[in-house]
Amino acid sequence: MSALSADDSKRLAAAKAAELVRDGMRLGLGTGSTAKHFVDFIGEKVRAGMKLLCVPTSEATRAQAAALGIPLTTLDETPELDLTVDGADEFDPQMRLIKGGGGALLREKIVAAASARMVVITDSSKKVDTLGRFPLPIEVVPFGLEATRRRIEKVASATGCRGSLSLRQGQDGKPFLTDGGHFILDGSFGRIPDPEPLAAALTAIPGVVEHGLFLGLAKAVIVADAAGVDIIGDLG
Ligand code: A5P
Repeated sequence: MSALSADDSKRLAAAKAAELVRDGMRLGLGTGSTAKHFVDFIGEKVRAGMKLLCVPTSEATRAQAAALGIPLTTLDETPELDLTVDGADEFDPQMRLIKGGGGALLREKIVAAASARMVVITDSSKKVDTLGRFPLPIEVVPFGLEATRRRIEKVASATGCRGSLSLRQGQDGKPFLTDGGHFILDGSFGRIPDPEPLAAALTAIPGVVEHGLFLGLAKAVIVADAAGVDIIGDLG
């Protein structure tokens, strides 16, 4: 078995997902270091003459795709997509995900929900039995931050999640701002025993814009490591 770096594995998963892309497709382009490889493959396909129309899930992905000459559109012009390919911070055996480590969860979820299929690409380090090892990103509006933080703590505790909520900092030492101009609270819960009630309760809190639990959205997860590529779910 040859040595494969985490980045090689991400690229391998992205290459497998690129095989799903057909001429004329409307694609959602994910965000992060794994999705970046997928966008590179899409750039190659476009250069080779394939006709594609893509919606990026972040300003970072928009910039990468534009630099590669990938035709871009918006969900206003193209509200229904055929396929979205994106990374994840964690996935469990039921293909429930935690996303938002890169801060793009809101657009990622909107784009995934507008797609007939969401396929996740990842290396095997993201696989868990129970979600929650990765801190759960929760996007909130800056107004009323402390009140919103306390309500999140309450609903998290009521659904069996205990742990700290920390305001994500940017590299400049100021609160990290999402593409939508919101803050992110990262919930270090360790384990999320019951993701569905937590997701519903978080969504009901005024001030919460979105959370990083992606439940029932992924149709397949492509997992790569030195042993090869494994497919969970259905790629078709
Ligand atoms: C971006 O907000 C995230 O949801 C990413 O998709 C996720 O963090 C995976 O990123 P990597 O591919 O860089 O691990």
